Amino acid sequence: MNTPLTIALTKGRILKETLPLLAQAGIEPLEDVFSSRKLIFETNRPDIRMIIIRGTDVPTYVRHGAADIGVVGKDVLLEHGAEGLYEPLDLGIARCRLMTAGPVGWQGGGARIRVASKFANITRRYFAEQGVHADVIKLYGAMELAPLMNLADLIVDIVDTGNTLRANGMEPLEEIASISSRLIVNKAAMRSRYSIIHGVIERLSEVAQGR
Ligand code: PRP
Repeated sequence: MNTPLTIALTKGRILKETLPLLAQAGIEPLEDVFSSRKLIFETNRPDIRMIIIRGTDVPTYVRHGAADIGVVGKDVLLEHGAEGLYEPLDLGIARCRLMTAGPVGWQGGGARIRVASKFANITRRYFAEQGVHADVIKLYGAMELAPLMNLADLIVDIVDTGNTLRANGMEPLEEIASISSRLIVNKAAMRSRYSIIHGVIERLSEVAQGR
């Protein structure tokens, strides 16, 4: 048999919403991915396996063909680029908004503002488009802390319920992008393994639309 089709999944919150979608499309891991330390999982489909990795690594695996298809947040694609990838399907899961946010009542900075984010590229592009001179401070998590500690004036982050912002005395300001998880496909695999990949896209598309 050929190498199984490899689907790269984003671990964490996206995974919790992806597995039911895949199950409805007839693809289920053979063991509990949440209690296992394994990274590669066989599925009920002998011709399909899953790998479970960080979201920022999903496009890398798919771009290089180490995985054939992947599930990843649009935020990751906007930040790290989607060159070499097809993005055929919005799965409509893990919906949230990418926003600027600041301390409640923030009145605006001077000629320059400091913005902390793990989305440094998106942040730079966004403020450049607004004609605002922003010094971007790259962080890897807990962006909400940066204005509280006077590391930055504003942040750019994912907002879902808004609870994290509220709990830290901050409020959402401008929406930069509406985010959801996307199916991505390696361009060469789309040609060489068209039949199986097309089948998976079709099934997932039906399931996503039916929700
Ligand atoms: C995200 C984001 C916020 C939080 C927003 O972090 O960075 O901190 O969720 O959600 P809320 O509006 O519902 O409070 P996540 O928990 O995904 O962890 P991360 O920092 O690893 O991205």
